[in-house]
This record gives sequence, C-alpha cells and structure tokens, in this order.
Amino acid sequence: MSATIDVADPGLYESGDPAATWAHLRATKPVFWNEHPPGRGFWSVMSYRPALEVYRNTGAFTSELGMRVGSDPAAVAAAAGKMLIVTDPPVHPQLRGLMNSAFVPRVVATLEESMRRVIEPLVEKALEKETVDFVSEVAAVLPAAIICDIMDVPQAERSTMIELTSQAFGASVGVSTDFASDCPMDGLDKTEAHSEIFLYYTDLVEERRRNPGDDVVSAMIRGDMGGRRLTDEEVLLNCDGLVTGANETTRHASAAGLMALIQNPDEWRRLKTGAVGIDSAVDEVLRYTSPALHVMRVAKRDVEVGGQHVRAGDSVVLWNSSANRDESEFLDPDRFDLGRTPNRHLTFGMGPHFCLGAPLARVELKVLLQVLAERVGRMELTGPVKRMRSNFMWGIDRLPVALTRDIR
Ligand code: HEM
Repeated sequence: MSATIDVADPGLYESGDPAATWAHLRATKPVFWNEHPPGRGFWSVMSYRPALEVYRNTGAFTSELGMRVGSDPAAVAAAAGKMLIVTDPPVHPQLRGLMNSAFVPRVVATLEESMRRVIEPLVEKALEKETVDFVSEVAAVLPAAIICDIMDVPQAERSTMIELTSQAFGASVGVSTDFASDCPMDGLDKTEAHSEIFLYYTDLVEERRRNPGDDVVSAMIRGDMGGRRLTDEEVLLNCDGLVTGANETTRHASAAGLMALIQNPDEWRRLKTGAVGIDSAVDEVLRYTSPALHVMRVAKRDVEVGGQHVRAGDSVVLWNSSANRDESEFLDPDRFDLGRTPNRHLTFGMGPHFCLGAPLARVELKVLLQVLAERVGRMELTGPVKRMRSNFMWGIDRLPVALTRDIR
C-alpha cells in the first residue's frame, strides 16, 4: 500500500470499502501526519486508544477552531462560542444544559411512539412497490421527522420541512413520500433549501418567544446562561446545529445498516427471530456504519498523542470510523455481529461533546429495525449502490432495494 495515503481523500469513501486502508494504517502508523492538501495537513489518529487520549484531554484541545476537516474558517469563527459543537467551556456546559432538556428519557420515550407512526407507513409503502430507493424514500424522512418533533413544528408545516431538510442534506433527489406530496418546494438546490430552513426557524423563534412550549427552541429561549438569555442569533445557530447534526448522520446509519443486513443474511435472520437483543443490534449498526467518519480538534499547546509530538496550533483528526474497527478493542472488527458485546464504539464521539442527539438516533434505529423485523421477510439489492463522496460523512446516496413480506 502507498506510503502517502490521504485518509481525507473523499474518493476513498466513494469508491468502496476503506476498511483495508484503515487496518493498514492502524498497523503501521496509528497516528501520522496526513498531507491534505499538499503542503498543508493535520494529524490523523486511526486507532482507538490514541483517539480516546484526545477526546479525554479537553485541557489541551479546542473545538472552537472547527471540528471537521476543510470547514470554512470564517463560518467557524462566526459560530465559535455560540453553536454548541464549536464551543469550549465555560459556555459549552451551560448551553448544553439548556439544550439537553429536550433529550431526557421522558421526552425520548414519547418520540418512540411518534417514530413508529412515521416508520410503519414508510415500510408498508416500500413493501407495496417492486423497488424503492431506501435512502430517499425511507432513511431521509426519519431524521427530518424527528427534528420536527423535538422542535414541535406544527403538523401543517411538517411536510414542507421534511421535504426542505431532505433537499438540503440529501443527495440531489428529494423525498418521495406522502409526507412531501403537498410540498411546494420542488426545484430548490441544497443551499437554497438550507436558507429556507433558516428563514423558517427565524419565524419559529419569534413565535416561541410569544408562545413558549416544551420544545428545545423554547428551552433555549427561556434558559439562563449565567445571568443572561441567548440571543436570537445563538438560538438560530443551535437550531441549525440540531438540524445538521441529525440529518447528516442518522440517514446514513439507517441506509448503511439496511445494506449490512442484506449483505449478512445470517444476522438478518438473528434479528428477525429475536436471537439478538434490539439494543445490541442498534449499537452494532452504529459501530459498523460509523456515519461520522471523523471529528477534529486543534491543539492549544504542545502535547503527545500516541507517541507523536503535536505542536500548538496543529489540527488533530480522530477517525472514529477506523477506531471502531480497531482489533485491539473489537474482536473480529470487520464482522457485522448484531450480538457484539462489549461494544464501546466511538460513533457518537466521547467526552463533553458526546452527541447530544444520541438517545434520539438510537430510538430511531431501534424502531426502524423493529418494524423491518416485524414486517419484512426478504430484502435484496435491485441496482447499483451509490456511495457518498465525502470525507466527513460515510454514507450512501442511493440504495435501490426490494422489500418483500415473503421470507423465501
Ligand atoms: C447516527 C446518528 C448520529 C451520529 C453518528 C452522530 C455523531 C456525532 C458525533 C461524533 C458528535 C461529536 C462531535 C465532536 O466531538 O466534536 C456529535 C455531536 C452532536 N450531535 Fe450527533 N450524531 C448523530 C445523531 C444526532 C442527532 C439525531 C442529533 C440531533 C437531534 C445530533 C445532534 C448533535 C449535537 C447538537 C452535537 C454537539 C454536542 C456538543 O458539542 O456538546 N446528532 N454527533
């Protein structure tokens, strides 16, 4: 294998399975200087233990200079210290405390019911058709619907929001479901659709200031940030953070999870017959599909990572996806094993920035797997799979499948 591997080359993820490249790097240089673009670069951390070192060493690293490779420095500077994911202490724990009220178990339990009401008709519709694109017709709808729930978007506006989120975060195809059938937003490109969402939330924030409820937007508006309230800009940035965090990830876990089940019929059988528990199945889908390929930190001072000397100002990129296949932490790591235990994956990161939406993502995957196991007998690919071209999201843009009730 070439000595100059660039794990941030999006082509690596578009063209096939990167597992062999990751394994080679873990074995030969678990922490290495990754040129990207030529002449510049960052430290790439490929293995589990050094990734934990960085996650845990919050004193030495900041998120306020960006948390992903290639982000626009001006956009990061505008959001740093205001948007949760690019905010360090002391603001981070205060802001997280406010937003967390929307993710407590009582709220998540009610969402489980709501998710079932979304997922069942989508799967039923897929069963009626000869073939469906699982990404646009099922997986893309779920995170958009869950975001509407936690923000309490009025029912009458949900189909528009679901369509807009799908356009803003999906491949270049919109959703084609009942939820979007009355949507007037056809023909918008991704940036326009994202701007429309932003405008929508501007109105929603205004409305919630007048009529607060139990949703996350009201929690942010009401919350006390050490003697002051969040500004509209801060509330909006965090609405956007939630929409982005939910949509760019859960969709890929659902679609790639379905593909893994198709490729591993024994595991599908174990799920269908109840031979494996649903919670361990969800965790294995999360580990195996690792939708967030990496997160980034910037060193605030000189520090050692996995035996390498990292200088103040250097970017350090933690490849969660590769750490999740580390053979020193996971037995037979490239095997999709729904009964895997323990399963201490890094799919949601680790430490103070551990994914705020993890309970929601888990519920969504749980209900999806349950509904598939209850209603679907056989699943097969019906055409070429299109993988996403990205070094941040490991995902699938198009997954043509046939779902049938029949098990033969
Ligand atoms: C399978 C689905 C998901 C994956 C793989 C995922 C992954 C991640 C990861 C790796 C982080 C840590 C970032 C860092 O350390 O810099 C994170 C943070 C975050 N995620 Fe998720 N996420 C998922 C679903 C969601 C959902 C459904 C939501 C919202 C409803 C969400 C909202 C957030 C937010 C707001 C943060 C920032 C937390 C903080 O900085 O304290 N995510 N996510």
